[in-house]
Amino acid sequence: PAGDPAKGANVFKKCMACHAVGEGAKNKVGPELNGIVDRKMGAVEGFNYSDTLKEHNAKGDVWTAEVLSKYLENPKAYMPGIKMVFAGLPKETDRADLLAYLSGFNAD
Ligand code: HEM
Repeated sequence: PAGDPAKGANVFKKCMACHAVGEGAKNKVGPELNGIVDRKMGAVEGFNYSDTLKEHNAKGDVWTAEVLSKYLENPKAYMPGIKMVFAGLPKETDRADLLAYLSGFNAD
């Protein structure tokens, strides 16, 4: 289901302690998330990823919208070994809204 990007901007507040998006976004505790939908896993230059994300990068794995939604529902359950400390977004609508928002930072 298509999410609402305006609501997604609000959901993204839960991520902002650790992640930035938009023009000039820098790595924080987590990597910047510009273009994250369909971006290769573990691909931001200069960010010190866990071995888990380095291995996914080496395999060429990609953050599709479907994978992102499963991951964000419960990060540690979906991807053991990830060093992202976040409980997750249990509501499907929150995840859809957030992904609609983040898709706005993909170059078309
Ligand atoms: C990694 C999204 C919340 C810290 C990632 C990645 C995504 C993501 C997609 C993988 C990036 C890549 O492969 O380049 C999100 C979203 C959040 C959120 C959408 C909110 C809903 C947080 C929070 C923290 C955090 C609150 C800090 C407390 C990290 C760290 C990594 C990471 C440290 C790197 C993990 C590793 O190398 O294993 N995040 N995140 N994230 N995130 Fe988050």
